[in-house]
Amino acid sequence: MKFSLCAIFLAASSANAFTSQTAGNRAFSSLHAASTDIPSMARSQTKVPVFDEVCDTTGVTLTRFMNEVAMLNPELRELTTLFGAIDTACKAMTNLVKRSQLPSSETLGYQGEVNIQGEDQKKLDVITNDLLKRALRFTGRLGVLASEEEDVPVDLVGGATSDSQEIVIEEGEKYVAVFDPLDGSSNVDAGIPTGTIIGIYEHSENCDVDPACVGDECTEQEAQCLANTLQPGTNLVAAAYCLYSSSTFLSLTLGNGVYLFTLDETIGEFVLSKPDVKIPEDCNIYSMNEANFDKWDKPLKDVVTGWREGTGKSETRFTSRYIGSMVGDVHRTLLYGGVFGYPGDTKNVNGKLRLLYEGAPMSFIMEQAGGISSTGKERVMEITPEYVHQRVPVVMGSKNAVQEVLDAYAADA
Ligand code: AHG
Ligand code: MN
Ligand code: MN
Repeated sequence: MKFSLCAIFLAASSANAFTSQTAGNRAFSSLHAASTDIPSMARSQTKVPVFDEVCDTTGVTLTRFMNEVAMLNPELRELTTLFGAIDTACKAMTNLVKRSQLPSSETLGYQGEVNIQGEDQKKLDVITNDLLKRALRFTGRLGVLASEEEDVPVDLVGGATSDSQEIVIEEGEKYVAVFDPLDGSSNVDAGIPTGTIIGIYEHSENCDVDPACVGDECTEQEAQCLANTLQPGTNLVAAAYCLYSSSTFLSLTLGNGVYLFTLDETIGEFVLSKPDVKIPEDCNIYSMNEANFDKWDKPLKDVVTGWREGTGKSETRFTSRYIGSMVGDVHRTLLYGGVFGYPGDTKNVNGKLRLLYEGAPMSFIMEQAGGISSTGKERVMEITPEYVHQRVPVVMGSKNAVQEVLDAYAADA
């Protein structure tokens, strides 16, 4: 039997009233909720997930794994319900991505819309967002969700809206889901691997929005609700990614190691293929968009130059692998060892990746596999987002190589 020593302190936050979807809802007016507007996040709970030998046995299905987790950890029972929805959604998205290559599917190409971040949305960005949103909300366990493809967080508890009326909100534990429904979607038309990234936080009940409040009266309360999604990665209770590639993979952490499942299409089930994944501590692969090299910070340039020339700390000559789909690049990094990065540069000081639904969940997985994830100067998991689509520089992967980057930044300070 294995006990996690990792105590996860969970945020107490709140519920209510955001959706960009229906006229009856109040959309939060600014994505930049200043930190002073947001109530402090009280830490309320500690969970120590317990796993047993069933959870470490290759071949068990994700359903069986989650039943075991729920039995051993009754306080996580409702979290495992969310994973039932994630399991189903990843299978459905597998089929969507796979079928997209057929002319009859008509799901490739652009939607003709631009998301709040100014990016052209692909049809599959929109379809997978809707699919995942519906799968999660109908668990009745979701309070708020935030997605790359939603302008603002979507509330599923408060506000009698036409959208929320159709949802059965159960009593009991509720969660906040943050996700990137189709990561690497620019690659999808070419049949190159894509993925889905999901982070799950606890949802607090201390946000009582008066259903009768109007206009400015609601602002403070809504800011408190928004705080549900603006939690640092250290508050995550779970994170997962699905990778749509030669197989579909589902990798997850509940704060007690990383568990990798592979979809067996003959039985339609995810089966455990690698329990307790650990990233090699040493490596010889780096994975970054080298077209930006000239604009990177000097410490990073120096370290990468050393890796290229074999004059770095390990005296090993590195090779380069870069798909341009974070999920695919991080998955390979976890299995083979390596360093994945999307650093800040002179043009985009915070890089490209989004903290809430890309940086933090993938950092949680990386750390749980024994790796490091940093901006170069601070741990990604400890950054509290100030707004939903905030970007963050990321360097993550094998311990010794990432440490070399951190040492270079420290020496430059
Ligand atoms: P998304 O498709 O969700 O917008 O994310 C794309 C991200 C990430 O998957 C990848 O690591 C990175 O963008 C690639 O960016 P470049 O094309 O600038 O290398
Ligand atoms: Mn992405
Ligand atoms: Mn995306």
